[in-house]
Amino acid sequence: MKIVFCCTNTKADPWLEGFRQALPGVDIWEWQATPAGQAPKLADHAVVWSPPQQFIDEQTQLQNLFNIGAGVDALLKLNLPSSLNIVRLNDAGMSVQMSEYVCHAVIRYFREFNHYEKDTQEKRWSYRKPGLRSEFSVGVLGAGVLGSKVAQALQQFEFPVNVWSRSPKQLAGVKSFTGPDQLPAFLKATRVLVNLLPLTPDTENVLNRANLSQLQAGAFLINVARGKHVVDQDLLDLLDQGHMAGATLDVFRVEPLPQDHAFWNHPKIVITPHTSARTMREESIAQIAGKIKAVYAGQFIEGRVDKIRGY
Ligand code: NAP
Ligand code: GLV
Repeated sequence: MKIVFCCTNTKADPWLEGFRQALPGVDIWEWQATPAGQAPKLADHAVVWSPPQQFIDEQTQLQNLFNIGAGVDALLKLNLPSSLNIVRLNDAGMSVQMSEYVCHAVIRYFREFNHYEKDTQEKRWSYRKPGLRSEFSVGVLGAGVLGSKVAQALQQFEFPVNVWSRSPKQLAGVKSFTGPDQLPAFLKATRVLVNLLPLTPDTENVLNRANLSQLQAGAFLINVARGKHVVDQDLLDLLDQGHMAGATLDVFRVEPLPQDHAFWNHPKIVITPHTSARTMREESIAQIAGKIKAVYAGQFIEGRVDKIRGY
């Protein structure tokens, strides 16, 4: 079995060593662009994050591309042979991190820690009357591997929680909305909007003026999916006009966020550097190695991407 590793965001050696331990006898190496006129060494499977088109063009015998993340938007921009399977990470240690991040941000707004942080700077002892939890409903866009876990984690704090997805969901205590027809009702019911949609042609720019305006007055946005879901100027306008009270943003159209971007100095925006749910090396190696063994045993594997649907 031959595996080529091509991940632009991490050092290869610990991953190669991990795969050698998990799959004894495997021939695994880090991809380097093959000099013109030489034949590339060909693999059966690839472990990738955002590989260049040259990698795909050279590796003509690949059966599976194992993505070391949940989102496959960068892969689907490439020109891929139709026979090549894309397999995304299923959780692999990400849902607990995402739940921590989102619950922290929601609770920070609900308990008004954002105001206490300011009071602390100004040495102000200022009691705030607790808000009503029943009026602080959280809407999660996307109820897949991560969104469903996040919705359940929020529900533990007894916030009203709704989810929006393509297909209906049955999650204890969580109301499910589906499809474009039910998006307005979902938005109207939402005080805190959490975005966990994949980036696809259907979801790009979904966080625009028309949709964000339908949120309840004083709404908050927590975007932990992709920057291209947000129309930046629409969000800035709604924050400045007071319809929205704050945004916690982990992902951006351009990363790192350019120094001159208006998000940096905005008093209602908190920024983190695409870190809400990091890829965990050990869990990811174990999951991908397990899937490779399952492929050879002719078994079903979770996480095969539907290239037409885009996730
Ligand atoms: P997933 O399991 O594929 O779930 C996607 C969810 O979105 C599903 O519930 C799906 O509905 C729904 N959906 C997709 N297109 C839709 C549409 N047009 N209308 C309504 N609902 C739609 O993905 P995941 O593992 O939860 O991850 C979600 C995203 O999080 C990733 O794609 C990635 O971009 C992002 N992410 C970010 C970080 C970070 O550190 N910031 C880390 C990991 C992942 P159905 O269930 O009906 O199919
Ligand atoms: C990170 O953004 C991921 O998609 O896993």
